[in-house]
Amino acid sequence: MYKLVGTVTGEVQLHKFDFIVSGEVRINEYVKVWNELDGWVLARVVKLVDADKKRATAEVIGYKDDRGFLMQPNSTVARNDKVFKADRAFIIETLGLRSGGIYLGLLDGRNIPVYLRKEELIQKHCSILAKTGSGKSYTAGVLIEELLEKNVPLLIIDPHGEYITLKYENRSEEERRQMEKYGITPRGYASRVVVYTPTNFSINPDADRLFRIDGINLSVKELYDLFPMSDAQLGVLYQSINDIKSQKEFYTIEDIIKKVSESKSSARWRIIHFLERIRETGILSDSPTRIEELVKVGQASIIDMKGAEPELQRLIVYRICKEVFEGRKMNKIPPLMLVIEEAHNFCPERGFEKAVSSNILRTIASEGRKFGLGLLVISQRPARVDKNVISQCNTQIILRVTNPNDIRALSRGLEFMSSEMEEEIKRIPQGVALLSSPGIELPILVDVRVRRSEHGGRAVDFDDSDNGRGEIEIEEQERKKSIFARLFSIT
Ligand SMILES: Nc1ncnc2c1ncn2[C@@H]1O[C@H](COP(=O)(O)OP(=O)(O)OP(=O)(O)O)[C@@H](O)[C@H]1O
Ligand SMILES: [Mg+2]
Repeated sequence: MYKLVGTVTGEVQLHKFDFIVSGEVRINEYVKVWNELDGWVLARVVKLVDADKKRATAEVIGYKDDRGFLMQPNSTVARNDKVFKADRAFIIETLGLRSGGIYLGLLDGRNIPVYLRKEELIQKHCSILAKTGSGKSYTAGVLIEELLEKNVPLLIIDPHGEYITLKYENRSEEERRQMEKYGITPRGYASRVVVYTPTNFSINPDADRLFRIDGINLSVKELYDLFPMSDAQLGVLYQSINDIKSQKEFYTIEDIIKKVSESKSSARWRIIHFLERIRETGILSDSPTRIEELVKVGQASIIDMKGAEPELQRLIVYRICKEVFEGRKMNKIPPLMLVIEEAHNFCPERGFEKAVSSNILRTIASEGRKFGLGLLVISQRPARVDKNVISQCNTQIILRVTNPNDIRALSRGLEFMSSEMEEEIKRIPQGVALLSSPGIELPILVDVRVRRSEHGGRAVDFDDSDNGRGEIEIEEQERKKSIFARLFSIT
């Protein structure tokens, strides 16, 4: 009843063996071999050697012992042992795959669904890392759909305005044809998704609501967090705000600017310049967006940053993170998932950039779990994301990565990465993910399911042959940065 696919040949090692292929075998196929001591042992085909695919190499995964632990076999397989295609039940049991939860897709090449535990995602954080165009946002969209189905509140930091399409059902003919295979149906989430713009409706006409930050009674500390000041500048700001406080219960940024202008110190100019820049963004308001409005059961709130300058984006992320963290500590809002796209912009690795949002994101990464505040961190430049944040993500979804620096960064941050795996992630096809998660015994390849709702990244269709798209984007970012650096820089 078992399907024979080959016979063990050549030198056998404890963790690896070759076999002569006699049946149908593809790369990443799961196979099993009988071992006198341990019973059935699971292995995965990692290499097809000959051009005519007559010889294959398999890596031993292990067997489940009586206690249900995945164990390494006590002896090697023997030459001439028969190799069989592993059956569904055996794979599920040995890999420790669960049934039900957050549905990510199918075990690569097999019709076996792969689920993640909702609690694990929220409490232990998740990262999606891969090169540009390999399906990060698409995969994030899959997780978001699943979390929405489970009524988990979501707050999505969306620099490019690509998540608004969660509202509409997937219209791609090609993807709709694949839905049956994945056992899903099209669905739009219009009634659950609320899009906020930090700019205004003429820049972002598709947004549902404005996003505003409380501009009343800004403290010295808050302003200091936003831009580094010299002692002299700090002194002026301190004095001014203290003076206002003695006269008024409520004050605006306008009041601070006025008061600072009255100072005799030459340090005042830089401060005025900075305060005016903030005022001009229009982000401050006396009717700010309340965190209780953003974080609601069954709702995904998207902060669509389209049209907002990078520094402003960071300021917004900083404020939102602080408020959700406080809000969770005081139980003012339900447990939630905070999605950070382009995380390298908001919590950059040291030596790359600086962002006001860095510290709070690091705090959420290390302490968020205690308060039911989950992070989903997405980036195309793993090497440029704060490794303190990445290393706190217990569920890792890695799609194709080719940049050697990024592969090195992944290896450093992820204990499971072997040199074989490094090679593997350079080759993974689009739509396939290497998944490592606490509930699953070892990293597996998953065919990420198609989206139920429309994917937003589609509109801009770039060739994936690496036509320097990543570089263009970075250039664009640098350009914006320099404009903004001029606006905001104070030192
Ligand atoms: N699981 C999948 N099933 C079907 N198509 C997919 C899948 N994953 C990715 N794609 C396709 O790949 C394209 C690129 O995916 P996506 O926009 O998610 O890339 P990205 O990694 O977020 O890129 P960027 O770095 O530019 O943000 C999508 O338009 C989609 O058509
Ligand atoms: Mg993307």
